[in-house]
Amino acid sequence: FPSAPEEPTTQWTTHIELGMWADVMVIAPASANTVAKVAHGISDNFLTTLVLALRAPLVVAPAMDVDMWQNETTQGNIDRLSQAGCHIIPPESGELASGLSGPGRLPEPDRIVQFVDAVLERVHQDLREKRILVTAGPTQEPIDPVRYVANRSSGKMGYAIANAAAQRGAEVVLVSGPVSLHTPRNVRRVDVTTAEEMHEAVQREFSSVDLVVMAAAVADFAPVKPSQSKIKREALKGETITLELRRNPDILKAIARQKKQQLLVGFALETENEVENARRKLREKQLDMVVLNNPREEGAGFGADTNVVKIVTADGDVEALPQMAKFDVANEILNRVVPRLSL
Ligand code: PMT
Repeated sequence: FPSAPEEPTTQWTTHIELGMWADVMVIAPASANTVAKVAHGISDNFLTTLVLALRAPLVVAPAMDVDMWQNETTQGNIDRLSQAGCHIIPPESGELASGLSGPGRLPEPDRIVQFVDAVLERVHQDLREKRILVTAGPTQEPIDPVRYVANRSSGKMGYAIANAAAQRGAEVVLVSGPVSLHTPRNVRRVDVTTAEEMHEAVQREFSSVDLVVMAAAVADFAPVKPSQSKIKREALKGETITLELRRNPDILKAIARQKKQQLLVGFALETENEVENARRKLREKQLDMVVLNNPREEGAGFGADTNVVKIVTADGDVEALPQMAKFDVANEILNRVVPRLSL
């Protein structure tokens, strides 16, 4: 990218120039209409065009009447913006211009300033010049041309990490299994389907990065011999079919053996003896950090917009974080990685 100008120069198209120049953009108040447009990339006025060209974090303070705020479509648009890494200041409850009462009021300016300060503090460019490899999503292991073995990963956790790292200035490559998520801004995405393909893509990128975060739920097993044609129901003898599975490569273990300057952060998906198993993974795979989550816990694991994690470090420390949005979990992980990267 060309570098951003220190001050607007008016040499460029204005929205592009401002989009490169700003450290943060705040829309306050944001009407239901603007929230909907921004959530869907509509750029039919100066404000929404600027949002599309923006490189900096976006803070949105929605303000509208209570029923408009609670409308399912508006809430869907707000979720969409949050998932894309926008920072939403929730409206306050109280009396509204219509005379109705409920959530929808724009917070006081002091609260908005405080919120923006916190965003700027978190999103200062502390990963500038760092290269980060993130994996996300499931892998799919073919049984035949139409069926596969996979898991429930949506990719949200890994995409949130890629998004947060890119916002903090890192050069990010995201190796992604099949998911239906948008590629975060300023992230290079490499699409893969199987664990073998993910392994190859990670191997290709590994030598040039400073940090690897393996949030992907890699399938541990794959059918030994995928059928070239669709397996017909009539071909089955009796009521059962046996699927022979083989072990997939352990991607994290393989890169740990080649490790030089890189920090390695793994995830652990555990349902019992969580901390003990996470510590074992940390030791066996020679990791610097393991982020532990339990899919049985409310608001954690697969598909959810939030996660509840424990961070286990190589020195054995365990830190439990409360339930928070996956984007915030991503920033918490990065906060703990940054001091180690600079050593
Ligand atoms: O995608 P979401 O819906 O947002 O859900 C997020 C998540 C639950 C998938 C994520 O938070 C998570 O826990 N990811 C890791 C899931 C997993 O595979 O855990 P594991 O305990 O089986 O593996 C441990 C580590 O080894 C992981 O970093 C994994 O990426 C890696 N691994 C696993 C198997 C394998 N063959 N190669 C690997 O590198």
